Amino acid sequence: MPKPIVELKDVKRIYTLGTNKIHALNGVSVSMERGDFVTIMGSSGSGKSTMLNMIGCLDVPSSGKVLINGVNISKLDDDGLTAIRRNNIGFIFQQFNLIPTLTALENVEMPMIFNGTEPQARRIKALQLLKRAKLPAEYADHKPNELSGGQQQRVAIARALANNPPILLADEPTGNLDTKTGKSVMELLRELKESGTTVIVVTHDPKLEEYSNTTVRLQDGEVLDENS
Ligand SMILES: Nc1ncnc2c1ncn2[C@@H]1O[C@H](COP(=O)(O)OP(=O)(O)O)[C@@H](O)[C@H]1O
Ligand SMILES: [Mg+2]
Repeated sequence: MPKPIVELKDVKRIYTLGTNKIHALNGVSVSMERGDFVTIMGSSGSGKSTMLNMIGCLDVPSSGKVLINGVNISKLDDDGLTAIRRNNIGFIFQQFNLIPTLTALENVEMPMIFNGTEPQARRIKALQLLKRAKLPAEYADHKPNELSGGQQQRVAIARALANNPPILLADEPTGNLDTKTGKSVMELLRELKESGTTVIVVTHDPKLEEYSNTTVRLQDGEVLDENS
């Protein structure tokens, strides 16, 4: 058996608000394999984003273990978490989160500036990624406000792939898109899964389940069921 790419073992995340303790995650154990397409479902407040943030190394558990590619992130400091994140994780969001003053191409180049890629190589790679995300070439020099929602999400996906992450995380990626555009974005995520990326999508839209091979259902911070 190859080792899981993502493993949560009895993960708890407790937020303290005054004297109130909120068990956002209350003993979650799940395991995901390389190349899985996982949807995390559950109603609002069930702990989906908290779980995704753990997998994305943006947060650490109050107790329990989170292993990314076999590395236990629970005890890492900020620098350690940043390094794991940079090498393993790409993020996409409901609001796309592109930088409004930069073109599509420049947005995709951004993560490669931080990792020190030379300008020429950066540009070539960014153009390849935009092509892979199926943004027509003539839009590469458009700013986000000159692009449709679907096009912006394609740019965001290209940017998320800049450091070749084995894991792509998406929090409600189709939440701001019409049904048809949402479908085409999900098709793109499916292609990425087929080329070996582990895709993990948080959603409350049951229609997205048809794209995944595993669904994790959360309720009140606990796994209600997990089926493949
Ligand atoms: N930073 C925070 N401080 C306090 N409570 C939080 C915080 N983030 C999330 N919560 C609470 O934790 C629970 C799970 O939240 P969340 O993971 O955002 O759920 P979902 O994404 O499924 O809507 C909710 O009760 C929410 O109010
Ligand atoms: Mg959420």
